[in-house]
Amino acid sequence: MMMLRNNETVIDQLTEKDVLSYRAWLQYAPIEDEAYKQQIKTLFTFITMSETSPIIDAALSELSLGLKAMCAFQPAIVSEQDQTGLHITIDKTKEQESFQISYHSSQLLLTAGDDRGVLYGVYHLLRQIQCQTPVKAFEVKEVPKNPIRMINQWDDMNGEVERGYAGKSFFYDQYEFIKDRTRVKDYARLLSSVGINAISINNVNVHENETDLIFDRYLADVKQTADIFSMYGIDLYLSINYAAPMEKGLTTADPLDADVQAFWKERAKVIYSFIPNFGGFLVKADSENRPGPFSYGRNHAEGANMLAEALAPFGGKVIWRCFVYNCKQDWRDRQTDRARAAYDHFLPLDGEFLDNVILQIKNGPMDFQVREPVSPLIGSLENTNYLLEFQIAQEYLGQQKHLVYLVPQWKEVLEFDTYQKGEDTRVKDLVSGKVLNQKHSGIVAVSNVGIDFNWTGHLIAQLNLYGYGRMIWNPDLSAEAIALEWIKQTFGHDETLVQTLLKIVMPSWETYEHYTSPLGIGWMVNISHHYGPNIDGYEYDKWGTYHFADRDGVGVDRTKETGSGYSTQYHKENFEKYNDVTTCPDELLLFFHHVPYTHQLHSGKTVIQHIYDTHFNGVEEVEQMMAHFTSLRGVIDEARFDSVMERLDHQLYMAKEWRDIVNTYFYRKSGVDDVHGRKIYA
Ligand code: GCU
Repeated sequence: MMMLRNNETVIDQLTEKDVLSYRAWLQYAPIEDEAYKQQIKTLFTFITMSETSPIIDAALSELSLGLKAMCAFQPAIVSEQDQTGLHITIDKTKEQESFQISYHSSQLLLTAGDDRGVLYGVYHLLRQIQCQTPVKAFEVKEVPKNPIRMINQWDDMNGEVERGYAGKSFFYDQYEFIKDRTRVKDYARLLSSVGINAISINNVNVHENETDLIFDRYLADVKQTADIFSMYGIDLYLSINYAAPMEKGLTTADPLDADVQAFWKERAKVIYSFIPNFGGFLVKADSENRPGPFSYGRNHAEGANMLAEALAPFGGKVIWRCFVYNCKQDWRDRQTDRARAAYDHFLPLDGEFLDNVILQIKNGPMDFQVREPVSPLIGSLENTNYLLEFQIAQEYLGQQKHLVYLVPQWKEVLEFDTYQKGEDTRVKDLVSGKVLNQKHSGIVAVSNVGIDFNWTGHLIAQLNLYGYGRMIWNPDLSAEAIALEWIKQTFGHDETLVQTLLKIVMPSWETYEHYTSPLGIGWMVNISHHYGPNIDGYEYDKWGTYHFADRDGVGVDRTKETGSGYSTQYHKENFEKYNDVTTCPDELLLFFHHVPYTHQLHSGKTVIQHIYDTHFNGVEEVEQMMAHFTSLRGVIDEARFDSVMERLDHQLYMAKEWRDIVNTYFYRKSGVDDVHGRKIYA
């Protein structure tokens, strides 16, 4: 795939066939149905809009762009209301970011709570037109479920993206901001089209050069970037280095030290003088060798509150990550359970954080594995603002070489019942702030984009970025409905194509699970880059406890009685379900229990037979996927078809590798034959 150089404009570089990949779901392909086109023309030829702002300008120019491309006309923005046309108004009595669309005799009314609502309303209309929805069905009332809908970039100033699988950064190159901002602007368009309203633009691991993002060296560039995102209703945040004061001459970063406090207050003042609508700081502290308040005997609340006080006069927020565990653990220490860490560190501090501090909690207790239980910290904190963190980047899920649709996994997290306030206290309601009425709440995810022309390396991984935004706007949308919208906008309406792609994407998460790590155990990857099978990759290294496979059995005992007690971090209903080997769901069995290979699952199979079967099936499922996709040759344009096919070929190769290595490993450990007599080892 071609790479952009610093001073080249992205569009100039695109060949016609690359353009389709680049446009992602904002294809705006010409509409062939003349009657529909005519109807749209009648409705959109005249647009009235009483107010103006940079966001409204961006919305209107997107609408013009879309209509011109799809229907070959450009709307006129007029002051007088006509009989026909689109009439946009802002009604400040309505919820912020909300919009309503109604349709009365050849008039469309878009009423929004604010200018972001106008932007989201316009993107809604463009989505409907791309999907060729009947005009009557444009009518809708939408209020985003989550107030904060955020993206974290893990981009470094040297141009690398940590856990990036789509080429280098399009923000930075060789310690400078990339001058051509076309890419950043188009990214902002993609993000706002699915309702994202916040972004942090640098990696949570902040090193020497990135520390300077809050200093003169880079602030003008940060401001320029903030202005681009701001036009699309997206607030900009920066990840900061907790030890920044020491890099700038102080002898300590102790949050209770007066000079340190003055340092951060001064920084806040300077940043806000450049960027009045700056969102705030994202902080990874005391985590994986990043500095933090622990070095000074202070806790996380003391650490975060100090920054929060500095930002408060300007309305800024501190987003403080809970990914804190002992990464120096020795593998011989079989007592410490990494899964317990976030809860053990943060629950005792519930209620101690200032109200502009927001904790950021990974969806599971470990680290974005193919299957994990939901972090028990969600469902336990009562008096703390927090965000739920997902990872769109497929770090442990095939690194965007494998086709894995993540929305089904995320939906399971959101639907999980924590029982915090009795039955039906679901994660989706907690993180949206609807249960505890926190001042700030929402969802955040690590992005999966890079400078590759198709943004995400694997073209189908665009669906995860799209799906993330749509799902956090409205967690009640089904994974299938989201995929359907994306397919129609990205590839068109051909019914066979739509149905075939649905058949490919819908089961893909479980397919990936089938040929990789079984029954909730996770990991089994190479420790350095997290790709490809290495069953003991983590087992005999630091970083925690993993599968504990020996000749008798497998799995981590996290029960109350004989294990790490992690299961006690859940409310009674979930604790009892997980803690008891007879009620623990199959898919999480080995996360909670160490069992013999002959243990019988609810499915009726033994653990060892389940491992063999799922691994054989996983490969067959990838073969199915390929057969489906092959049938689309000639239906999808050649460039996009070939790029997906190439990755599917590799996925099949890797699925076989996983199958053979996992099955062989467990065959050798257990000595149990496959009941079907298949050849287990490669
Ligand atoms: C994972 C990942 C790291 C990342 C970390 C985090 O451990 O491998 O690259 O920095 O998560 O979320 O902070």
